[in-house]
Amino acid sequence: MPKTLVSGIQPTGAVHIGNYFGALAQWLELQEQYQSYLFIADLHALNQIHDRERLAANIQEAIKTYLAIGLDPEKVVLFRQSEVPAHTELCWILNCITSLGTLERAHAYKDALANSKAPNVGLFDYPVLMAADILLYKPEVVPVGPDQKQHVEIAADLAQRFNHLFGQTFVVPQVLLRRESPIIPGLDGRKMSKSYANTIGLFDAPELIQKKVMSIPTDSSRPEDPKDPENDHIFALHRLFSTDQLPELEQRYHQGGIGYKESKEILLSNINTFLKPIQERYQQLERKPDYLAEVLEAGRKKAALVAEATLAEVKTRVGL
Ligand code: TYM
Repeated sequence: MPKTLVSGIQPTGAVHIGNYFGALAQWLELQEQYQSYLFIADLHALNQIHDRERLAANIQEAIKTYLAIGLDPEKVVLFRQSEVPAHTELCWILNCITSLGTLERAHAYKDALANSKAPNVGLFDYPVLMAADILLYKPEVVPVGPDQKQHVEIAADLAQRFNHLFGQTFVVPQVLLRRESPIIPGLDGRKMSKSYANTIGLFDAPELIQKKVMSIPTDSSRPEDPKDPENDHIFALHRLFSTDQLPELEQRYHQGGIGYKESKEILLSNINTFLKPIQERYQQLERKPDYLAEVLEAGRKKAALVAEATLAEVKTRVGL
Protein backbone atom coordinates (compact mmCIF):
# COMPACT_ATOMS: atom_id res chain seq x y z
CA MET A 1 0.00 0.00 0.00
CA PRO A 2 1.43 3.40 -0.92
CA LYS A 3 1.68 5.90 1.89
CA THR A 4 -0.76 8.80 1.97
CA LEU A 5 -0.20 12.54 1.99
CA VAL A 6 -2.57 15.46 2.39
CA SER A 7 -2.05 19.14 1.71
CA GLY A 8 -3.81 22.24 0.46
CA ILE A 9 -3.47 25.92 -0.20
CA GLN A 10 -5.92 28.69 0.46
CA PRO A 11 -7.38 30.41 -2.59
CA THR A 12 -6.66 33.86 -1.25
CA GLY A 13 -4.99 35.34 -4.33
CA ALA A 14 -2.22 34.82 -6.80
CA VAL A 15 0.00 31.86 -5.94
CA HIS A 16 3.63 32.92 -5.54
CA ILE A 17 6.96 31.19 -5.71
CA GLY A 18 7.04 30.94 -1.89
CA ASN A 19 3.99 28.67 -2.15
CA TYR A 20 5.61 26.88 -5.06
CA PHE A 21 8.96 26.07 -3.47
CA GLY A 22 7.51 25.71 0.03
CA ALA A 23 4.69 23.31 -0.80
CA LEU A 24 3.73 22.69 -4.43
CA ALA A 25 7.18 21.50 -5.53
CA GLN A 26 7.01 18.78 -2.90
CA TRP A 27 3.58 17.69 -4.07
CA LEU A 28 4.98 17.32 -7.58
CA GLU A 29 8.01 15.36 -6.42
CA LEU A 30 5.87 13.03 -4.33
CA GLN A 31 2.90 12.44 -6.63
CA GLU A 32 4.36 9.17 -7.93
CA GLN A 33 5.17 7.73 -4.51
CA TYR A 34 2.23 8.75 -2.36
CA GLN A 35 -1.51 8.52 -2.59
CA SER A 36 -2.01 12.28 -2.54
CA TYR A 37 -5.11 14.21 -1.46
CA LEU A 38 -4.59 17.81 -2.52
CA PHE A 39 -7.32 20.31 -2.05
CA ILE A 40 -8.29 23.94 -2.39
CA ALA A 41 -8.86 25.22 1.15
CA ASP A 42 -11.79 27.42 0.19
CA LEU A 43 -13.42 27.30 3.64
CA HIS A 44 -10.21 28.58 5.18
CA ALA A 45 -10.11 31.40 2.62
CA LEU A 46 -13.58 32.49 3.68
CA ASN A 47 -11.90 33.81 6.81
CA GLN A 48 -10.34 36.56 4.79
CA ILE A 49 -12.41 36.94 1.64
CA HIS A 50 -15.94 38.21 1.91
CA ASP A 51 -16.46 38.84 -1.76
CA ARG A 52 -18.28 36.14 -3.67
CA GLU A 53 -16.85 36.87 -7.11
CA ARG A 54 -13.32 37.17 -5.87
CA LEU A 55 -13.49 33.90 -3.97
CA ALA A 56 -15.02 32.09 -6.95
CA ALA A 57 -12.32 33.47 -9.26
CA ASN A 58 -9.56 32.49 -6.83
CA ILE A 59 -10.88 28.93 -6.62
CA GLN A 60 -10.76 28.63 -10.41
CA GLU A 61 -7.26 30.06 -10.36
CA ALA A 62 -6.19 27.49 -7.79
CA ILE A 63 -7.32 24.45 -9.78
CA LYS A 64 -5.67 25.83 -12.93
CA THR A 65 -2.50 26.33 -10.91
CA TYR A 66 -2.49 22.76 -9.61
CA LEU A 67 -2.80 21.42 -13.14
CA ALA A 68 -0.46 23.96 -14.75
CA ILE A 69 2.44 23.10 -12.47
CA GLY A 70 2.12 19.48 -13.56
CA LEU A 71 -0.01 17.65 -11.00
CA ASP A 72 -1.60 14.70 -12.76
CA PRO A 73 -5.30 14.20 -11.90
CA GLU A 74 -4.94 10.52 -12.83
CA LYS A 75 -2.47 10.12 -9.99
CA VAL A 76 -3.55 12.61 -7.33
CA VAL A 77 -6.96 13.46 -5.92
CA LEU A 78 -7.70 17.16 -6.49
CA PHE A 79 -10.78 18.62 -4.85
CA ARG A 80 -12.40 21.52 -3.04
CA GLN A 81 -12.55 21.35 0.74
CA SER A 82 -16.07 22.85 0.81
CA GLU A 83 -17.39 20.05 -1.41
CA VAL A 84 -16.60 17.33 1.12
CA PRO A 85 -18.81 18.15 4.14
CA ALA A 86 -17.00 15.60 6.32
CA HIS A 87 -14.29 18.28 6.81
CA THR A 88 -16.59 20.62 8.73
CA GLU A 89 -18.32 17.77 10.58
CA LEU A 90 -15.04 16.38 11.84
CA CYS A 91 -13.93 19.93 12.66
CA TRP A 92 -16.84 20.22 15.09
CA ILE A 93 -16.08 16.91 16.76
CA LEU A 94 -12.42 17.90 17.14
CA ASN A 95 -13.46 21.33 18.48
CA CYS A 96 -15.00 19.49 21.41
CA ILE A 97 -11.64 18.00 22.44
CA THR A 98 -9.48 21.08 21.71
CA SER A 99 -8.42 23.36 24.53
CA LEU A 100 -8.76 27.11 24.14
CA GLY A 101 -5.13 27.49 25.18
CA THR A 102 -3.90 25.50 22.17
CA LEU A 103 -5.68 27.82 19.77
CA GLU A 104 -4.62 30.95 21.65
CA ARG A 105 -1.01 29.93 21.05
CA ALA A 106 -1.47 29.34 17.30
CA HIS A 107 0.57 31.68 15.06
CA ALA A 108 -2.13 32.82 12.65
CA TYR A 109 -4.34 33.93 15.51
CA LYS A 110 -1.49 35.53 17.49
CA ASP A 111 -0.32 37.40 14.37
CA ALA A 112 -3.81 38.73 13.77
CA LEU A 113 -3.98 39.98 17.36
CA ALA A 114 -0.51 41.50 17.11
CA ASN A 115 -1.55 43.37 13.96
CA SER A 116 -4.62 44.53 15.88
CA LYS A 117 -6.94 42.93 13.37
CA ALA A 118 -10.14 41.77 15.06
CA PRO A 119 -9.97 38.02 14.37
CA ASN A 120 -13.19 36.18 13.58
CA VAL A 121 -14.10 32.83 15.12
CA GLY A 122 -13.16 31.12 11.85
CA LEU A 123 -9.60 32.37 12.14
CA PHE A 124 -9.41 31.26 15.75
CA ASP A 125 -10.64 27.80 14.79
CA TYR A 126 -8.45 27.62 11.67
CA PRO A 127 -6.06 24.96 13.06
CA VAL A 128 -8.93 22.64 14.01
CA LEU A 129 -10.43 22.74 10.52
CA MET A 130 -6.93 22.11 9.22
CA ALA A 131 -6.61 19.14 11.57
CA ALA A 132 -9.89 17.75 10.23
CA ASP A 133 -8.66 18.26 6.63
CA ILE A 134 -5.65 16.17 7.45
CA LEU A 135 -6.91 13.45 9.77
CA LEU A 136 -9.84 12.38 7.57
CA TYR A 137 -7.41 10.85 5.07
CA LYS A 138 -5.13 9.20 7.68
CA PRO A 139 -1.95 10.45 6.02
CA GLU A 140 1.56 9.68 7.18
CA VAL A 141 2.84 13.06 6.01
CA VAL A 142 1.72 16.62 5.33
CA PRO A 143 4.03 18.48 2.95
CA VAL A 144 3.88 22.21 3.74
CA GLY A 145 6.16 25.20 4.17
CA PRO A 146 7.80 25.88 7.54
CA ASP A 147 5.16 28.46 8.52
CA GLN A 148 2.54 25.68 8.70
CA LYS A 149 4.57 23.35 10.89
CA GLN A 150 2.84 24.38 14.09
CA HIS A 151 -0.59 23.74 12.59
CA VAL A 152 0.40 20.21 11.55
CA GLU A 153 1.71 19.61 15.06
CA ILE A 154 -1.67 20.66 16.45
CA ALA A 155 -3.29 18.11 14.11
CA ALA A 156 -0.89 15.43 15.38
CA ASP A 157 -1.71 16.32 19.00
CA LEU A 158 -5.43 16.15 18.31
CA ALA A 159 -5.02 12.75 16.63
CA GLN A 160 -3.23 11.46 19.72
CA ARG A 161 -5.77 12.99 22.06
CA PHE A 162 -8.69 11.49 20.14
CA ASN A 163 -7.03 8.05 19.99
CA HIS A 164 -6.38 8.23 23.72
CA LEU A 165 -9.95 9.22 24.58
CA PHE A 166 -11.89 7.05 22.13
CA GLY A 167 -9.54 4.29 20.91
CA GLN A 168 -7.11 3.99 18.01
CA THR A 169 -8.68 5.80 15.04
CA PHE A 170 -6.33 8.31 13.47
CA VAL A 171 -2.82 8.00 12.06
CA VAL A 172 -0.60 10.60 13.74
CA PRO A 173 0.68 12.71 10.82
CA GLN A 174 4.11 14.24 10.45
CA VAL A 175 5.05 17.49 8.82
CA LEU A 176 7.19 17.11 5.71
CA LEU A 177 9.42 20.07 4.93
CA ARG A 178 11.43 20.30 1.76
CA ARG A 179 15.02 19.07 2.04
CA GLU A 180 16.53 22.50 2.10
CA SER A 181 13.31 23.71 3.73
CA PRO A 182 14.00 27.38 4.45
CA ILE A 183 11.23 29.89 4.39
CA ILE A 184 11.32 31.21 0.85
CA PRO A 185 12.38 34.85 1.02
CA GLY A 186 10.68 37.63 -0.87
CA LEU A 187 12.17 40.51 -2.86
CA ASP A 188 13.05 42.32 0.37
CA GLY A 189 14.56 39.30 2.14
CA ARG A 190 11.61 38.82 4.51
CA LYS A 191 9.37 35.76 4.17
CA MET A 192 7.68 35.89 0.78
CA SER A 193 4.08 36.70 1.57
CA LYS A 194 1.13 38.43 -0.02
CA SER A 195 0.80 40.55 3.09
CA TYR A 196 4.33 41.98 2.65
CA ALA A 197 3.83 42.75 -1.07
CA ASN A 198 7.21 41.16 -1.78
CA THR A 199 6.13 38.26 -3.96
CA ILE A 200 6.94 36.97 -7.40
CA GLY A 201 3.66 35.53 -8.64
CA LEU A 202 3.71 32.28 -10.55
CA PHE A 203 1.60 33.99 -13.20
CA ASP A 204 3.08 37.48 -13.15
CA ALA A 205 3.71 38.84 -16.67
CA PRO A 206 7.40 38.88 -17.73
CA GLU A 207 7.44 42.71 -17.69
CA LEU A 208 6.19 42.78 -14.11
CA ILE A 209 8.77 40.20 -13.04
CA GLN A 210 11.46 42.30 -14.72
CA LYS A 211 10.34 45.36 -12.78
CA LYS A 212 10.28 43.42 -9.52
CA VAL A 213 13.68 41.77 -9.98
CA MET A 214 15.38 44.98 -11.09
CA SER A 215 14.08 46.76 -8.01
CA ILE A 216 15.46 44.23 -5.47
CA PRO A 217 17.37 46.42 -3.00
CA THR A 218 21.18 46.02 -2.97
CA ASP A 219 24.09 47.72 -1.21
CA SER A 220 26.44 50.17 -2.90
CA SER A 221 29.32 47.78 -3.72
CA ARG A 222 30.77 47.99 -7.23
CA PRO A 223 30.93 45.06 -9.71
CA GLU A 224 34.60 44.36 -8.92
CA ASP A 225 34.06 44.24 -5.13
CA PRO A 226 33.75 40.84 -3.40
CA LYS A 227 30.23 40.21 -2.15
CA ASP A 228 28.69 37.96 0.45
CA PRO A 229 26.12 35.64 -1.16
CA GLU A 230 24.62 34.97 2.26
CA ASN A 231 23.67 38.62 2.60
CA ASP A 232 22.11 39.20 -0.77
CA HIS A 233 18.42 38.95 -1.66
CA ILE A 234 19.28 38.24 -5.31
CA PHE A 235 21.47 35.30 -4.40
CA ALA A 236 18.75 33.88 -2.16
CA LEU A 237 16.58 33.63 -5.28
CA HIS A 238 19.46 32.19 -7.35
CA ARG A 239 19.32 29.26 -4.93
CA LEU A 240 15.89 28.43 -6.33
CA PHE A 241 16.22 29.34 -9.99
CA SER A 242 19.92 29.13 -10.86
CA THR A 243 20.79 25.78 -9.34
CA ASP A 244 23.07 24.72 -12.24
CA GLN A 245 25.07 27.95 -12.09
CA LEU A 246 25.21 28.18 -8.32
CA PRO A 247 28.88 27.20 -7.72
CA GLU A 248 30.05 29.57 -10.46
CA LEU A 249 27.91 32.43 -9.19
CA GLU A 250 29.05 31.84 -5.63
CA GLN A 251 32.69 31.98 -6.71
CA ARG A 252 32.13 35.19 -8.66
CA TYR A 253 30.39 36.73 -5.65
CA HIS A 254 33.29 35.87 -3.35
CA GLN A 255 36.01 36.92 -5.76
CA GLY A 256 34.33 40.04 -7.09
CA GLY A 257 33.64 40.50 -10.78
CA ILE A 258 29.88 40.32 -10.86
CA GLY A 259 27.71 43.40 -10.41
CA TYR A 260 24.24 43.29 -8.96
CA LYS A 261 22.84 44.31 -12.35
CA GLU A 262 24.37 41.29 -14.07
CA SER A 263 23.28 39.03 -11.21
CA LYS A 264 19.72 40.31 -11.58
CA GLU A 265 19.78 39.76 -15.34
CA ILE A 266 20.89 36.14 -14.92
CA LEU A 267 18.20 35.62 -12.29
CA LEU A 268 15.53 37.18 -14.48
CA SER A 269 16.39 34.99 -17.42
CA ASN A 270 16.27 31.86 -15.25
CA ILE A 271 12.95 32.83 -13.67
CA ASN A 272 11.45 33.36 -17.11
CA THR A 273 12.73 30.01 -18.39
CA PHE A 274 11.25 28.31 -15.35
CA LEU A 275 7.86 30.02 -15.46
CA LYS A 276 7.23 30.02 -19.22
CA PRO A 277 5.92 26.43 -19.60
CA ILE A 278 3.81 26.74 -16.43
CA GLN A 279 2.27 29.98 -17.67
CA GLU A 280 1.60 28.48 -21.09
CA ARG A 281 -0.21 25.50 -19.63
CA TYR A 282 -2.22 27.83 -17.41
CA GLN A 283 -3.36 29.82 -20.44
CA GLN A 284 -4.43 26.64 -22.22
CA LEU A 285 -6.49 25.63 -19.18
CA GLU A 286 -8.32 28.98 -19.25
CA ARG A 287 -10.05 27.67 -22.36
CA LYS A 288 -11.18 24.42 -20.71
CA PRO A 289 -13.64 25.23 -17.92
CA ASP A 290 -15.51 21.94 -18.46
CA TYR A 291 -12.34 19.95 -18.00
CA LEU A 292 -11.58 21.80 -14.74
CA ALA A 293 -15.06 21.01 -13.44
CA GLU A 294 -14.64 17.33 -14.39
CA VAL A 295 -11.33 17.07 -12.56
CA LEU A 296 -12.84 18.59 -9.41
CA GLU A 297 -15.91 16.39 -9.55
CA ALA A 298 -13.86 13.21 -9.99
CA GLY A 299 -11.66 14.33 -7.09
CA ARG A 300 -14.64 15.14 -4.90
CA LYS A 301 -16.02 11.62 -5.35
CA LYS A 302 -12.74 9.93 -4.46
CA ALA A 303 -12.07 12.20 -1.48
CA ALA A 304 -15.63 11.87 -0.15
CA LEU A 305 -15.41 8.09 -0.16
CA VAL A 306 -12.41 8.08 2.16
CA ALA A 307 -13.55 11.05 4.26
CA GLU A 308 -17.02 9.63 4.86
CA ALA A 309 -15.64 6.27 5.93
CA THR A 310 -13.38 7.94 8.51
CA LEU A 311 -16.19 10.18 9.72
CA ALA A 312 -18.50 7.17 10.20
CA GLU A 313 -15.80 5.47 12.25
CA VAL A 314 -15.31 8.63 14.32
CA LYS A 315 -19.03 8.99 15.00
CA THR A 316 -19.23 5.41 16.21
CA ARG A 317 -16.21 5.92 18.44
CA VAL A 318 -17.61 9.02 20.12
CA GLY A 319 -21.12 7.58 20.50
CA LEU A 320 -23.05 9.53 17.90
P1 TYM B 1 -1.32 28.90 2.48
O1 TYM B 1 -2.29 29.05 1.38
O2 TYM B 1 -1.11 30.05 3.37
O3 TYM B 1 0.10 28.50 1.94
C1 TYM B 1 0.25 27.42 1.03
C2 TYM B 1 1.56 26.72 1.24
O4 TYM B 1 2.66 27.58 0.89
C3 TYM B 1 3.60 27.58 1.95
N1 TYM B 1 4.27 28.90 1.96
C4 TYM B 1 5.60 29.06 2.04
N2 TYM B 1 6.60 28.17 2.12
C5 TYM B 1 7.86 28.66 2.18
N3 TYM B 1 8.16 29.99 2.12
C6 TYM B 1 7.18 30.92 2.02
N4 TYM B 1 7.50 32.20 1.94
C7 TYM B 1 5.83 30.46 1.99
N5 TYM B 1 4.62 31.09 1.92
C8 TYM B 1 3.69 30.11 1.90
C9 TYM B 1 2.79 27.30 3.21
O5 TYM B 1 3.58 26.78 4.24
C10 TYM B 1 1.78 26.30 2.71
O6 TYM B 1 2.31 24.98 2.73
N6 TYM B 1 -3.19 26.39 6.29
C11 TYM B 1 -2.64 26.15 4.97
C12 TYM B 1 -3.71 25.58 4.06
C13 TYM B 1 -4.31 24.32 4.58
C14 TYM B 1 -3.65 23.06 4.74
C15 TYM B 1 -4.62 22.19 5.29
C16 TYM B 1 -2.36 22.61 4.45
C17 TYM B 1 -5.58 24.16 5.03
N7 TYM B 1 -5.77 22.89 5.43
C18 TYM B 1 -4.30 20.85 5.56
C19 TYM B 1 -2.05 21.28 4.74
C20 TYM B 1 -3.02 20.41 5.28
C21 TYM B 1 -2.16 27.50 4.47
O7 TYM B 1 -2.25 28.46 5.15
O8 TYM B 1 -1.69 27.55 3.27
